[in-house]
Amino acid sequence: MTIHAHPAGSPTWTVRPAAPDDAAVLATLIETHREEGHLLPRGETEIRAHAAEFVVAEVDGVVRACAALVPLSKRMAEVRSLVVAPELRHHGVAGRLVDELRTRAEELGFSSLLAIAHDPRLFMRHGFSIVPLEWLPEKIARDCHDCPLFRQCGQYAMLRPLDVRRPGPSPLRLHPTVAVA
Ligand SMILES: CC(C)(COP(=O)(O)OP(=O)(O)OC[C@H]1O[C@@H](n2cnc3c(N)ncnc32)[C@H](O)[C@@H]1OP(=O)(O)O)[C@@H](O)C(=O)NCCC(=O)NCCS
Repeated sequence: MTIHAHPAGSPTWTVRPAAPDDAAVLATLIETHREEGHLLPRGETEIRAHAAEFVVAEVDGVVRACAALVPLSKRMAEVRSLVVAPELRHHGVAGRLVDELRTRAEELGFSSLLAIAHDPRLFMRHGFSIVPLEWLPEKIARDCHDCPLFRQCGQYAMLRPLDVRRPGPSPLRLHPTVAVA
């Protein structure tokens, strides 16, 4: 678990891997901000089955942010379902979750990390570049091809090359550093 303490008046939040019991809270968090974030819908049952893909940030034991790492192919994984509750925004929580998923993706041996975003700023700050959708046949085949908004959705495909490491022992392993910012 990583603990982030901020200057007086700012919230203290911790990051941890999600558990199946977080599914209901995650489903509500994602659904509440689905339109705002142009997020793919994720139901509680599906989240419970894929809880190991998520990292969460919590304040006083309550989950207030999440993101998931979804494999698209042997070489590429995608950051999905990134949401930070409004009262916790602009404290670096989303950036921390993206960094956590990047570390996890590298440990799992993926060579690139994808994000689909309506606003590219956050991901550009974290080493992603805008790429043509044509570079991403895995993504097109899985999610875009049958979408009525294919090539008209107005979202940015953003890619970050990864440092390939030897796969770690578990996809649930969280970076062990305890950081006080
Ligand atoms: C986008 C979002 C996850 C950012 O969370 P956050 O914890 O505030 O992000 P961080 O503090 O790590 O980084 C903030 C930076 O991200 C960028 N940013 C701000 N709003 C953003 C947005 N809606 N989309 C993308 N980037 C954004 C800005 O550069 C911001 O810098 P600032 O704080 O100096 O203004 C949050 O606003 C959110 O949950 N929005 C609704 C859902 C959503 O849009 N998800 C992303 C889908 S791709």
